[in-house]
Amino acid sequence: MDKKIAVMGSGYVGLVAGTCLADLGAQVTLFDVDEEKVAQLRRGKIPIYEPGLEDILSPAVESGNLNFTTNEAEALTGQDGIIIAVGTPKRADGSCDIQYVLSAAEMIGANIESDTVVINKSTVPVGTGELVYKQVNSALEERSDTEAKVEVVSNPEFLREGSAVGDFMEPDRVIVGSEDGSACDFTAELYSSLDCPVLKTGLRTAEMIKYASNAFLATKISFINEISNVCEMVGADVVEVAEGMGLDHRINRDFLGAGIGYGGSCFPKDTEALVEIAGQAGYQSQILNSVIGVNHAQRKRFARKIVSTLPEEEDLQVGALGVAFKPETDDMREAPSIDIIHDLQAEGIEVSAYDPIAMENARQVIRDVDWAESPEEALRGMDALILFTEWDEFLELDYKKVKEWLKRPVIFDGRNCLPMEELIEMGFDYYGVGRGIDRLDEILSYRYLFAEPKEKD
Ligand code: UDX
Repeated sequence: MDKKIAVMGSGYVGLVAGTCLADLGAQVTLFDVDEEKVAQLRRGKIPIYEPGLEDILSPAVESGNLNFTTNEAEALTGQDGIIIAVGTPKRADGSCDIQYVLSAAEMIGANIESDTVVINKSTVPVGTGELVYKQVNSALEERSDTEAKVEVVSNPEFLREGSAVGDFMEPDRVIVGSEDGSACDFTAELYSSLDCPVLKTGLRTAEMIKYASNAFLATKISFINEISNVCEMVGADVVEVAEGMGLDHRINRDFLGAGIGYGGSCFPKDTEALVEIAGQAGYQSQILNSVIGVNHAQRKRFARKIVSTLPEEEDLQVGALGVAFKPETDDMREAPSIDIIHDLQAEGIEVSAYDPIAMENARQVIRDVDWAESPEEALRGMDALILFTEWDEFLELDYKKVKEWLKRPVIFDGRNCLPMEELIEMGFDYYGVGRGIDRLDEILSYRYLFAEPKEKD
C-alpha cells in the first residue's frame, strides 16, 4: 500500500488505527496537539495500556512508516487521506460533543493543498459527516491559494480495549460510508489486505451502524442482567441459561455475561447519545432507556446484596479484586466498581482493593480506598472478597489460601467468573449474579408460584 495518511488525534482509536495502518504498509503521520504526548510517542512510550500495540509500534517507527507531529501543516499537507480520530466526549445531558471533530475539519480546510479524502473514525451523531464536509469547505473558501477538494467518509471503529490490535487486524467487517463512490473505494483499499467483508453505505447509514451496533451489544448485556435478576428470584442459574440461549445461532453466547453491568468509554456514552439523537429527531427510545436503567440498577443491586448479606456489624471491611471496567485495561471510565465501592462506603464498609494495572487511574476516581500491592494484601483479614474485574490473575489464585487470608469465607463474584461449585465445596459462601442460590429457602418454599394474582387496576 503506497497511501499517505494523516491521523488526527492520538487517543485510543487514533493511536491503534494509525499504528495498525502503518503496520499494513501505509505512510502514517499521527498528529496531536499535546506536545508531551507526541514527545513520549517519539520515544516509543505509549500512553495507554494495550496488549500488542508496542510490538507493532516500534517496528513501524523504525521502518519510517509511522511519524508523529504537533505541526498541523506538516501533518495535513500532501496526504491522500486524513483520518479524524479525536474525542467526542459526553455532555452533561448525555449528548455527544462534536466540537473537536469540527475543529479538526476546520484545520483540514486551512491546511490541505491537494484533493484529500477525509475519513471520520470518531463516533459522532448521525449527520456529523455532512457538517464536517461543510466545515472543511468553508475553511477552504477563505483561501485563494488552493483548488483542493475533499470527500468525506464515515469509517467507524469497532475496537475493544484490551484486544484492539487483534480487532483491527481481524475485524468482522469494515464499514465505509460516503456519498462519493471513489472515496469509499479509497478507504476500502486501506483494508484490502485484511480478510473480511467490506460494506459500502451512505454517510449517515455508516454513522448509524456504529451506534446501533454498540447499543445492541449493551442491550444484550442489560437483557441478560435482567434475566439474571429473575433467575435469582426463581432459583435458575443465569450462566447455564445464557449457555442454553447462546447455542441458538440466532442469539449466540457473546455478550450474554451477566454481572455488574457494562462500563467503559463506549457503551455508556453511545447508548445515552443514541437516546439523545433519537429524541432530538422526535423519537423517544423505549428500549434504550431501559437498557441504561437496568445497567445502573445492576450496580445498586450488587451493592445492596453485599450489604444485606454481611452481618449487621460495625467496622466491616471488604477486599476488592479488580477495579477496571474490564480485564486487560487500565481504563476506569464508567467502571461499575466506582459506584459500588462508593455505595459500600456510604454504608460504613471499609474497602481495600487491588488491580494489576488500573490502580493509578482508580485513585483519581475512587475515594478513601486502601490500595493494596497484591491480592493477599487486599484480602487479608477482610469480611468478604468482592470481584469486580475478571483478570486471569484472580481466576488462577489458590482459593485455599484465599480462605486463610479472609476473616470470613464470603465471596461476591460480580462477573460470575469463579468456579462456584468448587468454592462452595471448599466452604465458601459464594454469591454470584443470578446464580439462583441466594434465596434458596424462599425459592424452595415455592411461595412465588402460589402468590395470589394481583388485582388489575
Ligand atoms: C466496546 C465494543 O465492544 C467495541 O466494538 C466498541 O468499538 C467500543 O465499545 P469496549 O468498551 O472496549 O468495547 O469493551 P467490551 O469488551 O465490549 O466490554 C464493555 C463492557 O461490557 C465491559 O464493562 C464488560 O465488562 C461488559 N460486558 C461485556 C458484560 O458485562 N457482559 C458481557 O457479556 C460482555
